[in-house]
Amino acid sequence: MGSFDKEINRRRTFAIISHPDAGKTTLTEKFLLYGGAINLAGSVKGKATARHAVSDWMEIEKERGISVTSSVLQFNYDGYCINILDTPGHQDFSEDTYRTLMAADSAIMVIDASKGVEAQTRKLFKVCAMRGIPIFTFVNKLDRDANDTFDLLDEVEKELGIATCPINWPIGSGKGFKGVYDRENRAIVTYSDTQKGTKEGETKVISIDDTDALIAEIGQDAYDKLTEEIELLDGASAEFNLSEVHAGKLTPVFFGSALTNFGVEIFLQNYLKMATVPLARNTKDGAIDPTDDDFSAFVFKIQANMNKAHRDRIAFMRICSGKFDADKEVKHVQGNKTMRLSQPQQIMADERKILSEAYAGDIIGVFDPGIFSIGDTVCAPKKNIMYEGIPTFAPEHFARVRQIDTMKRKQFIKGISQIAQEGAIQIFQELNTGMEEIIVGVVGVLQFDVLKYRLENEYNVEIRLEPLPYEFIRWIENTDIDVKKLQGTSDMKKVTDLKGRPLLLFVNSWSIQMTIERNNGLVLTEFAKN
Ligand code: G4P
Repeated sequence: MGSFDKEINRRRTFAIISHPDAGKTTLTEKFLLYGGAINLAGSVKGKATARHAVSDWMEIEKERGISVTSSVLQFNYDGYCINILDTPGHQDFSEDTYRTLMAADSAIMVIDASKGVEAQTRKLFKVCAMRGIPIFTFVNKLDRDANDTFDLLDEVEKELGIATCPINWPIGSGKGFKGVYDRENRAIVTYSDTQKGTKEGETKVISIDDTDALIAEIGQDAYDKLTEEIELLDGASAEFNLSEVHAGKLTPVFFGSALTNFGVEIFLQNYLKMATVPLARNTKDGAIDPTDDDFSAFVFKIQANMNKAHRDRIAFMRICSGKFDADKEVKHVQGNKTMRLSQPQQIMADERKILSEAYAGDIIGVFDPGIFSIGDTVCAPKKNIMYEGIPTFAPEHFARVRQIDTMKRKQFIKGISQIAQEGAIQIFQELNTGMEEIIVGVVGVLQFDVLKYRLENEYNVEIRLEPLPYEFIRWIENTDIDVKKLQGTSDMKKVTDLKGRPLLLFVNSWSIQMTIERNNGLVLTEFAKN
């Protein structure tokens, strides 16, 4: 028994994965509403406002070395302490989006009921699947015309390769949306459009056996369709199995409408019942129990400030065990240094909150004077542990970097190498050519602009980026292969990364397949273990 068991065991830390516009922000906002974290009129929606608040806040606080994180929202509900990690989408999609998933213990996948599984969800899902964390599905926007429910589930199973278990079932959609059928309690919860701002609408709960009342409420047609679907469903869907959920092999599915706040609390309550306490993390010498009294954490994201006025970097850490106490010293294991971390803070919309304490499961952000690297461990001074590194994720956009002023070669190499070490971009060299020709790879195209901007502003180096047609990169697992002799396709390129590991760049997935077929025993991976 650790001293902080109670605090740690009530924590649930998840990331929301979804394609832009599926309703991630709206759902988050409704969750916060239940936690009383924002007032009824308030909203986390104003993304622009939130960003503004972050920079204002940093301006004021940077002197004091206090950090801020807009990347995590914390709220309390029914005795639980819930951390929601933001996975930036749209333009901001980058390796950080993937790295954030390394800090979560489970994921909530939001799917737009009229769109099904979309590109970004697919990508983020892959990372969750690699970690084997539980994934909960919320099918959103049932107040609009939706795809057939069986088709939606089928799509999740086929496209993502995870079994589905609907916990409830929608009755109609769009104008004909009547509510959801709760399978465990064999009752329907009628739809009510509570509109923005209010917590609960007037919902009724009617037993499926109360035929007359049910028909009076939803109509004969909807009733007939529902009973038919339930019969089909009971015969066809996977049985609920909590250990399968915990292993990430089965996703419980819920239906609702975040905008009208229907089905959100049912989802939250079930999520809390099914999700795990903070998970044990692996170190090179085995797993560390989160309830261990000694503090430990790992750095999963470093954010360099785009604004030249304050060039601070913020290191985001996930606490893996024990309690963080701002007054106590900690050891940065990789740097072999004992230090005091500044007090962590959280920010929500335009409100900031000083955390007096933080426990395993929580995320803290500290100003980083340039000592931390992604994947580093920080722990109690008497300990000497090192958490397993964070994988390098495959970039999807590539460009050749040309220096405009060739006299500034030294600054250029220094700048690009430092930015790559921070993890904002990845750099590659053509096999055997050394640093003469540099190829840069990014997960999100915005990172190209960041690179250009930072090289100009921080290193005084101008560059030109020439886009390359590659979309796929694969690391070579085999250690005994002579890469020069590999038989690939004509449009394939052989490169090495910063660590000297050989990789292959491909234009399409067909070329990957051909290369595997042409080279007996070749093993290619999408994530490189660090
Ligand atoms: P995101 O964070 O995943 O990108 O999505 P976000 O919540 O911002 O929602 C995207 C759009 O979808 C928003 O509309 C939002 O109001 C709407 N939406 C979210 N959930 C539901 C739902 O359950 N039903 C319906 N009908 N719409 C939903 P918008 O027009 O882009 O923004 P706004 O003008 O409404 O703020």
